[in-house]
Amino acid sequence: MAKMAAAMVESGEDAFRKLFKFYKRRNPPPDFSDVIDFSRSLPSDKILPAALDPSAVSDEEAARVGLQPVRDWRAFGLQGYPGFLFISNPFLLGTHPFWITQCLKTYPQKPNVCNLDMHMSPSETQDIWGQSAHGLSTPAGKREPRTLLERLRWVTLGYHYNWDTKTYSADHHTAFPADLHSLSSRVTAACGFPGFNAEAGILNYYRSDSSLGIHVDESELDHSRPLLSFSFGQSSIFLLGGTRRQDPPTAMYMHSGDMMLMSGQSRLLYHAVPRILPAPEGHTASHMDPCSSVSPQQDGSVVESVSEEDWKVCTRYLQSSRVNVTVRQVLGPGQSFPETPSPLQRTDAGQTAGYHEEHGEEESGKRKRRGSCDSADAET
Ligand code: OGA
Ligand code: MN
Repeated sequence: MAKMAAAMVESGEDAFRKLFKFYKRRNPPPDFSDVIDFSRSLPSDKILPAALDPSAVSDEEAARVGLQPVRDWRAFGLQGYPGFLFISNPFLLGTHPFWITQCLKTYPQKPNVCNLDMHMSPSETQDIWGQSAHGLSTPAGKREPRTLLERLRWVTLGYHYNWDTKTYSADHHTAFPADLHSLSSRVTAACGFPGFNAEAGILNYYRSDSSLGIHVDESELDHSRPLLSFSFGQSSIFLLGGTRRQDPPTAMYMHSGDMMLMSGQSRLLYHAVPRILPAPEGHTASHMDPCSSVSPQQDGSVVESVSEEDWKVCTRYLQSSRVNVTVRQVLGPGQSFPETPSPLQRTDAGQTAGYHEEHGEEESGKRKRRGSCDSADAET
C-alpha cells in the first residue's frame, strides 16, 4: 500500500494530473504515506537541512513581525529542487491570531479586490467581516445563505492580478499592506534574498472541499525574485512538480504557520493543492490563543493584540477553512511594465493556467473562472 502513490506515476503521461487526482480522491481515501511532513521529519536523503542567514534579521526585527529568532527556524530544502525552501512554522507562539485576523478581517477590505467584487457592488462588499461575524456564530447547516466570509475565495493586494489577461499592470495598483511587506522582507532576507520588495499578494481561501489546480506562477516580470507562501488554519497537501507535466510531483503537508519559498530553479515549477485536511493535534487554532505568550508589544511591533470577540470568529471560520497568502515581487529593480502584455504571457497562459475548483469539478472537467462567485475556481 505504501507504494501506491509512487506506483501511480510510472507511466509518465501527465504524471502530475494523475497524482493530483490520487490525492484529491475521497472514496476510498488515498494512502498518505508518501506525503512529507516537515513538522516531524529530520534531514534524510530527500530532506535537506537548509542554511539561512541569521545575521540578516535581528531577533528584535523578527519578533516585531511575530517570528522566532532566525537561528531557531526549522528550514529544509528538498533533494532535486534547488531554490525550494520549506520553513516549518517559524512564528512565535501567540502571533498567529494577528496574521489570521489580518487575512480574514483587514486584507479583504477596500481598496483590495476580491472575488465577490466581480458580481457585487462596492457598497455590498465593503464590510465582509462585519456582515459575517454574527452569521458565523450560528452553527453551520442551520443557516442559509452562507456568510460573505464563507464565500470569499481570493483577495488581491498591491498590483492586482488580472485573472483574464494573466497580467499585472501599472494602472491597477493600490498600496501593499505595510505589515505584510515587513514580514515578507524579514523572511526573504533570512533566506538569502535581501532587498525583496513585496508588490503583489494573492490570498486564497479554501473550504474543506476546495483545491487549487496545477499551475506555474510566471506572470511576474522578474523571475529572479522568490515567491513566498504562507498558510493558516486547516492543513493541506501541496504538490511540487517539475517544469513539465510529465514530471511526477513531490507531496508535502502544509500546516498552519508553515512557509515556503520558491526561487532559482524552483521558481517556475508546476504546483497545486489537491486537498485540504483537518489540522492535526497541535496545529489547530485552539493551540494559538492570542497573545497568551507574547510579551508586551515592543516598540515598532507590527503584531498587535486581537480581541477575544474577533478571535472567536476567526477560530470558527478556520474550523473548516484554510488561508494561503502568496507574496510576489513583480518588477525587478528599475524595471517597468511593458506597454502591452509580453508575447510570452499571452501564448503560455492557457497551458500553465491553474484554477481553483470545488469538490467534484475536476472529474467533470469544469474549470470556472476566478471571477465567478462561490467557486473560487480560478486561473493563476
Ligand atoms: C498560488 C498558490 C498555493 C497554496 O496562489 O499561486 O500556488 O498553498 N497557492 O494555496
Ligand atoms: Mn502558485
